[in-house]
Amino acid sequence: SDYETILVEQRPETNGAVTLITLNRPQALNALNNKVLSELIAAFAAYDADDSQRCAVLTGSEKAFAAGADIKEMSDQGFADMYGNNHFGGWDRVVATRKPWIAAVSGYALGGGCEVAMMADFIIAADSAKFGQPEIKLGVTPGMGGSQRMARAIGKAKTMEMCLTGRMMDAEEAERSGLVARVVPAADLVEEAVKTAETIAGMGPLAALAVKEMVDAAFETTLTQGVAFERRLFHGLFGSEDQKEGMAAFVEKREAKWKGR
Ligand code: HXC
Repeated sequence: SDYETILVEQRPETNGAVTLITLNRPQALNALNNKVLSELIAAFAAYDADDSQRCAVLTGSEKAFAAGADIKEMSDQGFADMYGNNHFGGWDRVVATRKPWIAAVSGYALGGGCEVAMMADFIIAADSAKFGQPEIKLGVTPGMGGSQRMARAIGKAKTMEMCLTGRMMDAEEAERSGLVARVVPAADLVEEAVKTAETIAGMGPLAALAVKEMVDAAFETTLTQGVAFERRLFHGLFGSEDQKEGMAAFVEKREAKWKGR
């Protein structure tokens, strides 16, 4: 690929169904500058557009998933620069990815790094992971959705404490709090995340899109509206060949062959 700050690979052991995107600015602990953002926007759009790719994993290095937005890039910016250019607004395009993706976090996930991890459908953490929103120590606040996504993930008390003190949370606490789905040994992180992604990649593509859309809706709407939305998507899947195939395969005691139709 032509990227400078990320590596993108369709994993061969999954026959290319799992796309691994690796943040690769080791000299800056994967600090998220404009170049990283534009490359991630392109990589996620390419992933979303290619039917052969069914699930993606975003990871960093052993030492850092990402140590934040690039402080050196922001330090001299004024209000007009930040507001006028809608700084960080491009992350909405990463969030708009319709297909599932997992954040595999080892080491530091701080500030924007933690916020990007929380944009994923779920997080798998290495036992070495450290999460935090230390922006307050820089005289600012989370700016890529962290206050909102963390509050929805772990509630008010811990979010307030994390964002007001800037302290770090280890992997064990993150799992206990509901910030991460699962903790694995650091040495196994990428393998475990790819394996989990492969499981998802083996499901019917339409059902995977629908699960993502309906679970996300839970954070945007009321219970009554959310349950109705879920039921409509569920009903809609009965218009697909994959529903006929999936249920026939169960009855016939064989593996389903998904078409994504
Ligand atoms: C730019 C960064 C960076 C960042 C680290 N680096 N984090 N550069 N932006 N967010 C650079 C360092 O300057 C250094 O470059 C190199 O990466 C290695 O970092 P060290 O500090 O030498 O490593 P270490 O001593 O191991 O400490 C690791 C660390 C520390 C604890 C993670 O780097 C750290 O505190 N980083 C900042 C964390 C942070 O505040 N993140 C939130 C950012 S603001 P040189 O060239 O000196 O070797 C944000 C919020 C966005 O994300 C919303 C609004 C602002």
